Amino acid sequence: MALKDAEPDLISHLITNTPDNASGRELLYGESRLIISAGSETTSTALTFIFMQLATHPSYMRAIRKEHRENSAEYHCQRPLPLLDAVIHESMRLWPSVFFGAQRITPPEGLTINNHFIPGNMIIHMPPFTINRDARNFADPDSFIPERWTERPELVLNKSAYNPFSTGPYNCAGKGLAMMELRSVVGRVVNEFDVILPEGFVAETYWEGIKDHFTAGPPKQLVQFVRVKE
Ligand code: HEM
Repeated sequence: MALKDAEPDLISHLITNTPDNASGRELLYGESRLIISAGSETTSTALTFIFMQLATHPSYMRAIRKEHRENSAEYHCQRPLPLLDAVIHESMRLWPSVFFGAQRITPPEGLTINNHFIPGNMIIHMPPFTINRDARNFADPDSFIPERWTERPELVLNKSAYNPFSTGPYNCAGKGLAMMELRSVVGRVVNEFDVILPEGFVAETYWEGIKDHFTAGPPKQLVQFVRVKE
């Protein structure tokens, strides 16, 4: 607020468009809390789950490293790489950063979806966790199969079911940036390090320990990042 000639960014846009009074400041504090957790917690959770998937499926770790090295000359995180993106999408399908799905209100006249009438002014939501594990949308829905996003598209029965960033006018404002962060961190870390789980690690206990507290909360888990030799 004190910087009058600041570079335009998200918060300067909000400040300019919010009344400078007590209730305006409450709004700004709320938006600030939202943008901080929306932009950090979601991405760190997605990264945690992706690294855990790679640690438990090391063949994909080696394949991503190979793909990264083969494309290193012209690589940029704004551009998808087939296997890297497939692993990111498959991890976010099984373990989306936001399980429950944002709420919406039906229009006053109600709404018909797939022949079901939903009355007006009802709070509805579409939980990604449940939708992503529905066998009507994805074949073998509980299995980690990145190939469904590449050479095995028949395993995706309903592509529109996959919305880890939500959809519509209020979808994630940071989707593009988030994908750049995920590609950049996963690609570069895996290029240099193997992610190794400790002796006695039990995958089921880890995945079952995830909690839903608005965003998904992974349990604490120590892993080792071991520099690859070649
Ligand atoms: C893997 C990372 C991320 C995931 C999975 C994710 C997912 C989501 C989801 C599901 C929503 C709810 C949208 C709705 O109400 O329908 C949302 C909202 C939002 N996200 Fe993200 N997000 C991620 C990263 C980011 C980043 C990096 C930023 C910004 C730097 C960001 C900014 C926002 C904002 C501002 C909203 C609120 C949009 C609104 O209410 O209009 N997100 N995100």
